[in-house]
Formats: sequence, C-alpha cells, structure tokens
Amino acid sequence: MNALLLAGGLGTRLRPLTEQMPKPMALVANRPWLEHLVIQLRDQGIDDFVFAVKHFHEQIRQHFGDGSRFGVSIRYALEQSLLGTAGAIKNAETMLDERFIVVNADIVHEIQLIPLLEYHRQHGGLVTIGLTEVEDPTQFGVVEQEDNGRILRFVEKPRLEEAPSRRVNAGIYVMERASLSYIPKDQAVSIERETFPLLIRETAGVYGKVISGYWKDMGTKDRYRSIHWDILNREFALPLPGQETGQGIWVGEDCEIATGALLVPPVLIGNRVKIGERSIIGPFAVIGDDCRIGRNVRCSETIMWNRCKIGDAMNLNNCIFGFGLELGPRQILHEAVVNRMEAMQA
Ligand code: GTP
Repeated sequence: MNALLLAGGLGTRLRPLTEQMPKPMALVANRPWLEHLVIQLRDQGIDDFVFAVKHFHEQIRQHFGDGSRFGVSIRYALEQSLLGTAGAIKNAETMLDERFIVVNADIVHEIQLIPLLEYHRQHGGLVTIGLTEVEDPTQFGVVEQEDNGRILRFVEKPRLEEAPSRRVNAGIYVMERASLSYIPKDQAVSIERETFPLLIRETAGVYGKVISGYWKDMGTKDRYRSIHWDILNREFALPLPGQETGQGIWVGEDCEIATGALLVPPVLIGNRVKIGERSIIGPFAVIGDDCRIGRNVRCSETIMWNRCKIGDAMNLNNCIFGFGLELGPRQILHEAVVNRMEAMQA
C-alpha cells in the first residue's frame, strides 16, 4: 500500500508566503510541513510515496529527491495544468497500488493510520474518508452517515439546526484503485465536490471514520499562526528540533544569545540564530535557522523563516516573515505577512 500526497495547489489563501513555493513546503516549527508528514507516515510503516505536484514542484523535488535521505521511496506525478484533487489522483493512477492512502499535504495532524486501515478492511467498500469533528459545521461539507459509518450524503454549509452531524472531511482517504474508474482522465475534477458525491450516488461504498488526535489545515494565515501556538503550547506535541532549555523554551545548535537578551516562553529558536543585547523574544515566537536579530528588538506572536535579518529596535507583533527577509532598524510591524520576491529554498 502506498501513499499519494496532494501537494500541487496554488495555496492562494496563504499568499504572499506561497507566492513562489508550494504550500506544503511552508515551515511548521522550522521544518517544511511535508517533511514532518513524510516522517510521520514513514514511522507508521509507509515507505512508498507518490507526490502529486504542480505549483513550484521543482522545490519539492530538490528537497526530497528520490526519498532515500528520509529512508523512503518518492515518485512524482506532475500535472501539466492543475487537475484538481481528484484529477491529480487519476493522473498518478499508474503509480498507485490496489489500495492506497491519499493525504492533503496541507493538513497538519497527528494521524493514526492503523484504525483507519482496519476499518477500511472491515467494511470492504471503495473509499474510507477520514473525518474530523468541528465546532462550527456551518462552514463545511458535513456528512450524514448510517450507523455502520456508510456515508449517505454531504450537506454543504448547513444551517446549524439542519446539520446532520459535526463531522467533516479531514482530507485523508483510504481508496481502492477501482474507485479511480469514476474519475475522467485529463480533466480538472474535485474529489470533495464531484467524485465523492458521485460514488455515493452510485452506492459504490463510501464510508467515514472519525480520526483522533490534532487536526488543523494550514490553509489561511490565521490557522497557520494558530498551529504554531498550538505546537508551542504542546496542545499538538509535534517533536521540536533543539533542546528545551527552560519550560517552553527550545533553542537549536550554535546559537549566540546575548546575556542581556530575554526569551519569554513559549518560544522556539532554530539553529545558528544570533540575538542581540536587550532584545525580548516571545511569548509565542518561532525563529528560523540562521536568523540575525539585532539589539532592543521586541518580537512576540511572530513566526520568521530561515535567514531573516531583523535590525535594531524593531517592534514585531503577530507577523509572519518568509525566507531571508531583511527589515529595520526601528520599525513597528503588527500583523505583517511579508515575503521576498526571489524563490528561496528551505
Ligand atoms: P487555496 O488556493 O488557498 O485554496 O489552496 P490550495 O488549492 O493549494 O489547497 P486546497 O486546500 O484547496 O487543497 C488541498 C490540498 O490539495 C493541498 O495540499 C493542495 O496542494 C492540493 N491540491 C489542490 N488542488 C490540487 C491540484 O489541482 N493538483 C494537485 N496535485 N494538488 C492539489
């Protein structure tokens, strides 16, 4: 059984961070999310991956190559034009096993595959959709299910009183190859809006199972930020690089933090970071590898990717900075999401 990771979308809602990079390569706690995902799935026994790619696919290829660096095999199914979430799976058909899993590569989660696969084996249908329960179902396609988990229909954006459940598609599927005969070739097709409803109408056997553990999609800037705060709070216990030097303070290797600088937890500092005198970093700050932070900087609720240079006396709150950004000195930035024009590598 192999795994297909959907990683080709434009990531428009996360612009400008995704202007020149694939969304699943966005750093989560200083490492591309796609790398966390591969490691997570590898540790549960998946060693054969297909990446369905398009938008800035060469960055993914450059980072992962054939997968040997991560102890797995990775092949690439490249689309000439975006084929949508189902079209992308169809495009990879010849690389897929009889049974395979599909994961939206922008979903940040701690997936437990075994219960999902066990359930899939038991019901014997063509598809199992991993479901997650949301507080407010009115913004999603909500499922109505039979007692045995078979999905009867999706109700799109229901009014609260009309929602048949709070369970929504989590973007993780177990599929049989036979299900691909329902997807036309070389056409843009959405799995959520077209293929699953078609399979349900045809009673092809579409089942749903609630997955346990942390789940959030990083599709918007607010959610991208909040994933980091969940990680720093350890609500999502993603393994963090670096050493925990004090409660809620993680610091990478070879950092130079001036004695007069203050790290206010929770805070995650990457490798080879320099922080100047009297700077206060945190609470809620994630500083990427090789960043240089000047003196008298205030930085809270902010995520900066590798190689940023922050001048003296900068005041940063609720910001997200892409790779290699250079700012300052003496500016106040609140809620700024800033990226450089050049495509930079992780
Ligand atoms: P937005 O433009 O912000 O909606 O983002 P998106 O289209 O990149 O992501 P969306 O949440 O709609 O898609 C879920 C996952 O499927 C993401 O990991 C995308 O990279 C991926 N995806 C979406 N459309 C395609 C596609 O046409 N081809 C491929 N290969 N992947 C896709």
